[in-house]
Amino acid sequence: MLTTEPSVHSALPLASIRSQFPSLSQTVNGYPAVFLDGPGGTQVPQRVIDAIVDYLRRNNANTGGAYATSRRTDAMIAEARAAMADFLHCGVDEVMFGANMTSLTFAMSRAIGRELKPGDEILVTRLDHDANVSPWITMAEDRGVSVRWAEMHDEDCTLDMADLASKINRNTRLVAVGYASNAVGTINPVEEIVRLAHAAGALAYIDAVHYAPHGLIDVAAIDCDFLVCSTYKFFGPHMGVLYGKREHLERFRPYKVRPNTNAIPNCWESGTLNHECIAGITACVDYVADLGRHMIGLCAHRRLPHSQPAWSEVERRLSKPGSPEISRRAAIEAAYAAIREHERALIERMISGLKKIPALTIYGITDPARWERRCGTFAVRIENHTPFDLATKLGERGLFTWDGNYYALNLTEHLDVEKTGGFLRIGLVHYNTGQEVDRFLYALQEIAGNG
Ligand SMILES: Cc1ncc(COP(=O)(O)O)c(C=O)c1O
Repeated sequence: MLTTEPSVHSALPLASIRSQFPSLSQTVNGYPAVFLDGPGGTQVPQRVIDAIVDYLRRNNANTGGAYATSRRTDAMIAEARAAMADFLHCGVDEVMFGANMTSLTFAMSRAIGRELKPGDEILVTRLDHDANVSPWITMAEDRGVSVRWAEMHDEDCTLDMADLASKINRNTRLVAVGYASNAVGTINPVEEIVRLAHAAGALAYIDAVHYAPHGLIDVAAIDCDFLVCSTYKFFGPHMGVLYGKREHLERFRPYKVRPNTNAIPNCWESGTLNHECIAGITACVDYVADLGRHMIGLCAHRRLPHSQPAWSEVERRLSKPGSPEISRRAAIEAAYAAIREHERALIERMISGLKKIPALTIYGITDPARWERRCGTFAVRIENHTPFDLATKLGERGLFTWDGNYYALNLTEHLDVEKTGGFLRIGLVHYNTGQEVDRFLYALQEIAGNG
């Protein structure tokens, strides 16, 4: 039944994309592996692996030394900062590296908390990953600050914007919100939330960890004060990256050791960083940019379906007389236009297939008219099956999904699924194919039928 529908048409060069990711060709129990675990961490292209190995082989040193490998390490970190500045659309001195998003957020929450006092309020949301909740709550406990919660609409797992707006007032000092939910795939209206926060004089701290593989991030356009992401979720190594507006990085005081510089952004980075992984960050941003350049090339040669609205901006750019060389930022923009189109087709196929499986509940947006408010991350439950049981059986067939709460604990508790194993989570990214979606749906239907 599931395979009789038209396959997913994609402008992305999927064969060439997939050939760049060595891990995608693995098998499990004789089945080709299908990586539907992107929300827990994506696979990496060979160039990221090469950059990490090359750093360790040729440049391995600490920073700031008066000799070749140390100087090359300094240059490599500067390159990675420039790559992330292009990725996020900010200045190079507004990019900080750290172990992961959680540690960066704990550190920043402590620095911001130094300036807060009893009577001040912060706002967190029910939909967020706990890494954008607990750092703020524990800081609030330390400083005697009140915590307010923005609630969600249970029926489609979107933020209740009226509730959120009603909880921002002149005492609000910070609004912490996710760009996209790592559990149910909802994309939040972050521009509007930043505007509401700023109108009350509050800071906006955006967790873009889950959004980064799916959509273009533009901190200049969003106008957020801080935004954090993790490169291992968008085809890079296990690292966290924090953007902070220059004025805030200069004003707030980091917890730091005395010999470290007072200059931004380094004063916000603690100890010796993971240099080999930082080398991999430039490679992962360049992977995305090269995908964009390829798509721009197709567009220039009129080999893309022109009905796709996402391409009009790319076409406009190309048609400008004397159009300058495509910058890395422009290439990243083009890559995400193509990624969004491809993922949208996969979302469509996944949801229409999931809806046909008896006794299956999808948590999150299922209305095709609202696809722009979701990414390809699906939380489901099937009657008489625990999520762990489903994930285990799927895993035996080489289909990698996740089960549980994936640290979106406030959400699973609120929807009362925490005690019974949370959700089965299926995550699609741009290297997934329509055939993989079909294989997954077929297996899930069979496993569900045998419950
Ligand atoms: C939405 C979201 N925020 C934050 C995190 C935490 O990121 P990290 O592992 O880099 O600390 C995750 C990790 O899964 C996530 O999905």
